[in-house]
Amino acid sequence: MGSYAGLGEVGGKRILVRSDLNVPLDGDRITDDGRIRASVPTIRALADAGARVVVTAHLGRPKGEPETRYSLAPVAKRLGELLGRDVAFATDTVGESAQAVVGGLTDGQVALLENVRFNAGETSKDDAERGAFADRLAALADGFVSDGFGVVHRKQASVYDVAQRLPHAMGGLVAAEIDVLRRLTETPERPYAVVLGGSKVSDKLGVIDNLLGKADKLLIGGGMVFTFLKAAGHEVGKSLLEEDQLDTVRSYQQRAQELGVEIVLPTDIVVADSFGDEASARVVAADAIPADTLGLDIGPESGAAFAAALADARTVFWNGPMGVFEQPAFAEGTRAVADALTRVPGLSVVGGGDSAAAVRALGFAEDRFGHISTGGGASLEYLEGKPLPGIDVLLDEGA
Ligand code: 3PG
Repeated sequence: MGSYAGLGEVGGKRILVRSDLNVPLDGDRITDDGRIRASVPTIRALADAGARVVVTAHLGRPKGEPETRYSLAPVAKRLGELLGRDVAFATDTVGESAQAVVGGLTDGQVALLENVRFNAGETSKDDAERGAFADRLAALADGFVSDGFGVVHRKQASVYDVAQRLPHAMGGLVAAEIDVLRRLTETPERPYAVVLGGSKVSDKLGVIDNLLGKADKLLIGGGMVFTFLKAAGHEVGKSLLEEDQLDTVRSYQQRAQELGVEIVLPTDIVVADSFGDEASARVVAADAIPADTLGLDIGPESGAAFAAALADARTVFWNGPMGVFEQPAFAEGTRAVADALTRVPGLSVVGGGDSAAAVRALGFAEDRFGHISTGGGASLEYLEGKPLPGIDVLLDEGA
């Protein structure tokens, strides 16, 4: 028997753990198990302390009812392999199967409930509907550990409301993630560089806005770079473009100049005739993208320039791949940035989602980075300075 920080003695108790097990799948094959591996230490610590561990999690965005392709069954299997012990799987979340599986647990055993988003109450905007579902989840347990960092920005039943209904504690993964993000926002060592990629500028507006006042350099790649190139007066052919963000991007460039923040854009681009067409991949100057092509990666000159810009950084935050890294012809820009991060003399943080999957897919050992976050949207929202409901509810004494 043993205790878990913040909850006290957990031996013999049913502890509900919210984990983020939202992993990419190809059919029922898990293509990147990083989030499952990151969730194991908390689950193991609770089981080792003699708790009856009931894990709840989501996969994808089902619409409040069961959908086979979003079943957590393959995740239960992988979790069992990584834990080195059986994981009982409930085929529903709060129904007969869940009650039977949880009722059958003995001390130190682990169960995973089916996708929590198969229940409309989980993501409902209606407090009463969400609360009613949280009541049913809470009835399965004696205590709650919030360990799904990737979902703490969601005001959802298994993240937020359940914490108001059970004695609760922050899990080790969430605590570690928050600790690193604090270092990025409160006292970053300088120079502080931020690398942003991914497809949409509109997803990154808040974070750019906030980081312009904090970072020394902002390096831009990925699909969002074409809106920056267009705003700088260049044609971008058939590349991804958010026309409605051009003025915003121009205002960022203006503000960056005023603040003395360097915005680094690529000088060359890997283009192709159509999306994913590796055979037609070629490198062109960033200010001479042919009209009938689209950009799918930053070019080699830019990869080297980005690496040089990061060489003296004492703090780096990176979110979003530089190109379509899943295809070798468009992966080199992302590889160059990942490689540069491994050489950073200070703290290097890979911010979740696609960038975390990219560094693993490209074969980089995780321990070569200061921290690989499990949260994409959650880490961005933290850096935007937005409140995170799943954290606030844990800190709220009245909860
Ligand atoms: C993620 O993939 O970032 C988290 O699992 C949250 O998923 P969501 O964006 O569907 O809420």
